Amino acid sequence: MLISSATALALLSALALGAPGYQRSDTSRPQRCIVPSSNGTADDSPAVLKAFARCATDSVIVFKEGVNYNIFTPISATNLSNVEIRMNGNLHLPQSIAEVQRVVNRTNRVTYSDGQHWFAFKGPSIDYIGSSDINNGWINSYGQAWWDANPVNGTGIDSRPHLMSFKTTGGSLKYFKSRKPIAWNVQVEGDDITVSHAFIDAESTGSFPFNTDGFDVTGTNVRITDSVIYNGDDAIAVQSGSHNILFERNTIGYQSHGMSIGSLGEDQTDFANVSNIHFEDVTVIDAVYGARFKSWIGGQGLAKNITWKNIRVYNVTFPIFVTQSYVNQGSSQTQLGDGQTTGRINNGSVMMEDFSWSDFTGTINTFRPGDGSCVTNPCWYDDGLPDLKHTEAVIIECNTDTSCKNFALENIQIIPQSMAAPTVVCINATAELNPQLGFDCKNGTFSPF
Ligand SMILES: *[C@@H]1O[C@H](CO)[C@@H](O)[C@H](O)[C@H]1NC(C)=O
Ligand SMILES: *[C@@H]1O[C@H](CO)[C@@H](O)[C@H](O)[C@H]1NC(C)=O
Ligand SMILES: *[C@@H]1O[C@H](CO)[C@@H](O)[C@H](O)[C@H]1NC(C)=O
Ligand SMILES: *[C@@H]1O[C@H](CO)[C@@H](O)[C@H](O)[C@H]1NC(C)=O
Ligand SMILES: *[C@@H]1O[C@H](CO)[C@@H](O)[C@H](O)[C@H]1NC(C)=O
Ligand SMILES: *[C@@H]1O[C@H](CO)[C@@H](O)[C@H](O)[C@H]1NC(C)=O
Ligand SMILES: *[C@@H]1O[C@H](CO)[C@@H](O)[C@H](O)[C@H]1NC(C)=O
Ligand SMILES: *[C@@H]1O[C@H](CO)[C@@H](O)[C@H](O)[C@H]1NC(C)=O
Ligand SMILES: *[C@@H]1O[C@H](CO)[C@@H](O)[C@H](O)[C@H]1NC(C)=O
Ligand SMILES: *[C@@H]1O[C@H](CO)[C@@H](O)[C@H](O)[C@H]1NC(C)=O
Repeated sequence: MLISSATALALLSALALGAPGYQRSDTSRPQRCIVPSSNGTADDSPAVLKAFARCATDSVIVFKEGVNYNIFTPISATNLSNVEIRMNGNLHLPQSIAEVQRVVNRTNRVTYSDGQHWFAFKGPSIDYIGSSDINNGWINSYGQAWWDANPVNGTGIDSRPHLMSFKTTGGSLKYFKSRKPIAWNVQVEGDDITVSHAFIDAESTGSFPFNTDGFDVTGTNVRITDSVIYNGDDAIAVQSGSHNILFERNTIGYQSHGMSIGSLGEDQTDFANVSNIHFEDVTVIDAVYGARFKSWIGGQGLAKNITWKNIRVYNVTFPIFVTQSYVNQGSSQTQLGDGQTTGRINNGSVMMEDFSWSDFTGTINTFRPGDGSCVTNPCWYDDGLPDLKHTEAVIIECNTDTSCKNFALENIQIIPQSMAAPTVVCINATAELNPQLGFDCKNGTFSPF
């Protein structure tokens, strides 16, 4: 490869300054703990915990290249400071559901971090750097058994752990690799965090990989780039309290629920607050949703300055979808729990302001819409909209005539696989409040100006 002298200079100065969020020079992390492995059937978690205790500050913790580690009990390392976790080994959770449930039941609220994550990392300046070799650095969670065991109308079987909580400031997650997660992958929380070159593979050979979110973000100045996420729920879900989030140069798909803002406003007493979110240069394959916003009826809050740009969709059921009447699919368990919809007082909406969608191209999944997770009639993902034709390039559903403001669509070039004309469902995005909408807000053929 030819490197120009200008590039070389830039590289050198980046190294000298320590590119933000990346590996710092080893001098600031003089301690090193190499995690031993039984390389067999024993639980390696005690050795891992020992390494995290010994090397909790100004350290590098090394999982050896290509070596297998059994992580049969959760790892909580929540007092880290300036630590690099060099994940070159391959981790294995217990393969049986009963064993995970037994551990979760036993350790819940004791060592089982946050009551819900198998791995919990917390503290300033944490860099989790996986192997750049595609064969190594995997976390194997054996989720297939969990997905297959989930009844069709179920909301997930008991004691499902989330995979990882990553809470830091000025940190990074690079080459994170997750194979068949049991459910949610990474909760990213904090400030100034770069996630890059992640690979999440929740492809199923059986049932729907229920709730396998890629990245759930509650933070500020978070970047997620150059990653591949194949899963069965949101590839990214930007949650309340998130500001300045960038999601770019990623490929997402399989039965993914796309690039989501929300859900917001589920807790009616809480003011949802999200701003400055940018999604760009993303390929979306076979997913249920591409660009998605979801908030609950009767919620409150503001989502402002959100953009999706240069998005390629292939065989996507709902390329652009906005709903302010979101409900979780499911049984009475979901509906009557925290996300109660029956009896919710419809006294507000999470307001949406300055949203734009531009330069979309590709196809709508007309022939086999959805993701196989639909067990309600009408289907949960139709969000109460009757008579969908699966020719809809755009669905915008505002709960009131003032809850959507300054929406702008530009250069949306998406066609149904049937080669029928693309259509739109548009409710309450009024011309007065949305002068740049780019088409008439009404149902029918999508005819941009
Ligand atoms: C781990 O075990 C495998 C198979 O038993 C063996 O090939 C490999 O060399 C071992 N690795 C280490 C680091 O001991
Ligand atoms: C971090 O926690 C571990 C395990 O709880 C403990 O052994 C260690 O002393 C703590 N380190 C610091 C720097 O507090
Ligand atoms: C774990 O707890 C759940 C819920 O409390 C229970 O349904 C399940 O049987 C328990 N599993 C084991 C293996 O203890
Ligand atoms: C709407 O009603 C719920 C339930 O009474 C309440 O908690 C919430 O604060 C109300 N929202 C607003 C914006 O008043
Ligand atoms: C929403 O978040 C922004 C940015 O952190 C903050 O400036 C603003 O005060 C928040 N609004 C409310 C109502 O909490
Ligand atoms: C909107 O958000 C982008 C980041 O996505 C930011 O660069 C821009 O300054 C924001 N615009 C306003 C008006 O705050
Ligand atoms: C489109 O996606 C659906 C659902 O994931 C899948 O069943 C179908 O085979 C895909 N169709 C094409 C043409 O790729
Ligand atoms: C799921 O539950 C709903 C509501 O109880 C019922 O109408 C539907 O037939 C069930 N679906 C399956 C696949 O069991
Ligand atoms: C547009 O379509 C939606 C969903 O099918 C429906 O709820 C709404 O009433 C329709 N609006 C008009 C004006 O027909
Ligand atoms: C559209 O807005 C009006 C006025 O705010 C509201 O009454 C109506 O329910 C909204 N329509 C839908 C389908 O949400």
